[in-house]
Amino acid sequence: MAAMLANLVRPIKIKTPDSDFGRRKLSPTPSRTSIRCLASGKSGERSYTLTLLPGDGIGPEVVAVAKDVLSLTASLEGIKFHFKEMPMGGSALDAAGVPLPDETLDTAKGSDAVLLGAIGGFVLFIKYKWDKNEKHLKPETGLLQLRAGLGVYANLRPAVVLPQLVHASTLKKEVAEGVDLMVVRELTGGIYFGKPRGFGTNDNNEDIGFNTELYSASEIDRIARVAFEVARKRNGKLCSVDKANVLEASMLWRKRVTMLASEYPDVELSHMYVDNAAMQLIRDPKQFDTIVTNNIFGDILSDEASMLTGSIGMLPSASIGESGPGLFEPIHGSAPDIAGQDKANPLATVLSAAMLLKYGLGEESAAQRIEAAVIETLNRGFRTGDIFSSGTVLSESTFLLKLLTVYYKEILKSSRRGF
Ligand code: IPM
Ligand code: MG
Repeated sequence: MAAMLANLVRPIKIKTPDSDFGRRKLSPTPSRTSIRCLASGKSGERSYTLTLLPGDGIGPEVVAVAKDVLSLTASLEGIKFHFKEMPMGGSALDAAGVPLPDETLDTAKGSDAVLLGAIGGFVLFIKYKWDKNEKHLKPETGLLQLRAGLGVYANLRPAVVLPQLVHASTLKKEVAEGVDLMVVRELTGGIYFGKPRGFGTNDNNEDIGFNTELYSASEIDRIARVAFEVARKRNGKLCSVDKANVLEASMLWRKRVTMLASEYPDVELSHMYVDNAAMQLIRDPKQFDTIVTNNIFGDILSDEASMLTGSIGMLPSASIGESGPGLFEPIHGSAPDIAGQDKANPLATVLSAAMLLKYGLGEESAAQRIEAAVIETLNRGFRTGDIFSSGTVLSESTFLLKLLTVYYKEILKSSRRGF
């Protein structure tokens, strides 16, 4: 591997990283200033506190890679990061008896941005270790508490089929090629949080479980505004997904989104029922640019969208609120079956760190250089198992870190030469 690394240090031809993934004319997502400013780095100092929540399974190893990339950013770009690592999810349950200890939430709230690895899953030979726990003691509950606690209501989940990975998609090449969409998912409302909820019995004394899909006008307006802004910065097309033929909450959703459209005349708004959207995503995904939808539909459609790319291990996400730190996390889960083996794909977390820099801290050029380093790693043919195909080089997670380090430095040098 060392010889291979030495080989790679030769000057590389790099596209100016002037757009996400170095291949788009328009910025795919809004700059921090167009949505809002999340962190207020002390004037001139560019010093930030970052909370790291490695979590469970492969979480710690992918966060370790992203942390090293961020440390490299710090040393190369004159930024200071103060990292605070805190327990969260199953590991917090084991250590502290709750999935989101108060100290973890307080630390997260007091920082400039939060990077999360993954939570939940089973641990070797102890299948579904935390799954039998009562609801308030499940790792997932900690994640929902964290989202609610940070007030991060807007979840941005990009799904981009990179030309280098088009073969990883299960769709035909001509369908998958060029897919580039963004799911804007409402994250702190809807059926995930709506009341009443719970268990009970019906008139026949039969057990029932119930939840409430509930949205207020202001909750819809604020997520719609984020989505219009996102669409405006991308290709100006917004598709709002609902179930307004059946659900009252969706009827209000559609009404509010339609009303707001007049404030964004440059954005072409369409509406689609969720069942149709699920179908259209597979039939012709290129028709979508930006999708906005509620919490539960967004959960489902973003998983579907991620699979268009064939590589959930590549996809980052950003969750932002009105003020306070944003939460940045890869879309993939904790994959405990490969944990601790240096096999996990760290690129989604590295790209999440890039989103953190861009949306969380306004450090756009550093973010673009990280994205360009990821692209260069793929261009050179290095892959973890999840995106491996014949003709590419199967690489460990930590080896990808070495490559990213090399390419990042090269990219920075090139940009300083005005390349
Ligand atoms: C996601 C996950 C979570 C969700 C779970 C783990 C609670 O599926 O981030 O998409 O449902 O939001
Ligand atoms: Mg999900």
